[in-house]
Amino acid sequence: MAEYICVLNKDGLIIKPPKKTPVFLRMIVLVFAMVCGVYICSICLKQISTHRKFNIHNIQVIDRPFPADYPKHLQISCEHFPVPETFSRAECEHNPVRYFAILSMQRSGSGWFETLLNSHVNVSSNGEIFSVLDRRRNASSIIKTLDKVYNLDFYTSASKNECSAAVGFKWMLNQGVMVHHKEIVEYFNRRGVAAIFLFRRNLLRRMVSVMANSYDRHAKLLNGTHKSHVHSVEEAETLSKYKPTIDSTLLIENLKEVEATAAKALEYFNSTRHIVLYYEDLVKNRTILKDVQKFLRVPLMELTSRQVKIHKGPLRDHVENWEDVNKTLIGTSYESFLRADY
Ligand SMILES: *[C@@H]1O[C@H](CO)[C@@H](O)[C@H](O)[C@H]1NC(C)=O
Ligand SMILES: *[C@@H]1O[C@H](CO)[C@@H](O)[C@H](O)[C@H]1NC(C)=O
Ligand SMILES: *[C@@H]1O[C@H](CO)[C@@H](O)[C@H](O)[C@H]1NC(C)=O
Ligand SMILES: *[C@@H]1O[C@H](CO)[C@@H](O)[C@H](O)[C@H]1NC(C)=O
Ligand SMILES: *[C@@H]1O[C@H](CO)[C@@H](O)[C@H](O)[C@H]1NC(C)=O
Ligand SMILES: *[C@@H]1O[C@H](CO)[C@@H](O)[C@H](O)[C@H]1NC(C)=O
Repeated sequence: MAEYICVLNKDGLIIKPPKKTPVFLRMIVLVFAMVCGVYICSICLKQISTHRKFNIHNIQVIDRPFPADYPKHLQISCEHFPVPETFSRAECEHNPVRYFAILSMQRSGSGWFETLLNSHVNVSSNGEIFSVLDRRRNASSIIKTLDKVYNLDFYTSASKNECSAAVGFKWMLNQGVMVHHKEIVEYFNRRGVAAIFLFRRNLLRRMVSVMANSYDRHAKLLNGTHKSHVHSVEEAETLSKYKPTIDSTLLIENLKEVEATAAKALEYFNSTRHIVLYYEDLVKNRTILKDVQKFLRVPLMELTSRQVKIHKGPLRDHVENWEDVNKTLIGTSYESFLRADY
């Protein structure tokens, strides 16, 4: 077969004058070979170019999948075949499972992001499991909880069980991540857990959301129930009617602190395989969700969420003492937070 193709190619190059063999047949075979060649070349080029684009993009918006100096043996270990104690993986026991954790801060879009992930038939993100104090009391209780999650034995409504191809949860930085970072990074690197950082660029908007959510815990604006996330425009409008008053004397200090915590977390986890996402980018550009699925190495799917954004439009409409806040931030590095609306 190979020989046959070689001969054909030679013929094609030299272009001998046709002999007795049916010219028409020869031409068909020749054209076929050429079309095949062009097709293979175009596939190669496409792969090279998408690969390159992805890398460039990684450097700009998200991080490289692996740091350059990342040990080779750890790069392979992101594929797992857990054997749960509580059920059998049945038909999917030979499918690899990836481990991840969404590292974020309150009111940074992680609830919304998680519903998007969980709309994937093969992704199980088990929610904010470390909001329970007992699970994060010390490093060993954290590790015990992590073992259970990644062995697929941690059961929540998000669990896809047998056919999970990626399993994880969301973890707020103030829920033991920063305090026990050494043990957690060691665990992530040993067991091949990938970190998905989700931050918010506009920390002033985040602050408004934190204050409004905290107010609603007691005010219970939606017919006497507190909701952190809503599924209708009416509910969003009701919740956004409350305008917090921001203490402008502590404002800069507070923004700095949040910024520093995010930077520190990235530094702690910089030896871990990770991706950095920003809420604002996700809101504007859903193709980033494809990058996330590639990062998790799960089949690509359209992801959906029913959640509705609560605070829309200019921030000045959502803050009681806007003049004050405006005056405080003008001329500082946080000035852009005043303007961005989405
Ligand atoms: C860690 O906390 C758990 C309770 O959450 C406790 O039972 C255990 O003794 C603690 N371990 C250490 C090493 O302090
Ligand atoms: C994803 O889930 C579907 C349905 O449960 C299953 O058939 C498929 O094998 C899973 N894919 C992977 C990669 O695990
Ligand atoms: C809350 O009350 C409003 C009217 O007062 C009603 O339209 C809405 O359906 C109620 N929502 C729930 C969740 O009960
Ligand atoms: C990780 O952080 C350390 C300490 O800040 C720094 O020296 C190192 O260059 C960082 N590594 C990567 C891959 O960013
Ligand atoms: C959206 O994100 C994709 C991939 O993450 C990127 O290639 C593209 O340039 C972005 N589009 C815009 C309009 O920012
Ligand atoms: C902030 O105040 C300045 C000066 O008073 C004004 O020009 C500007 O429009 C205000 N910015 C916002 C976003 O309200």
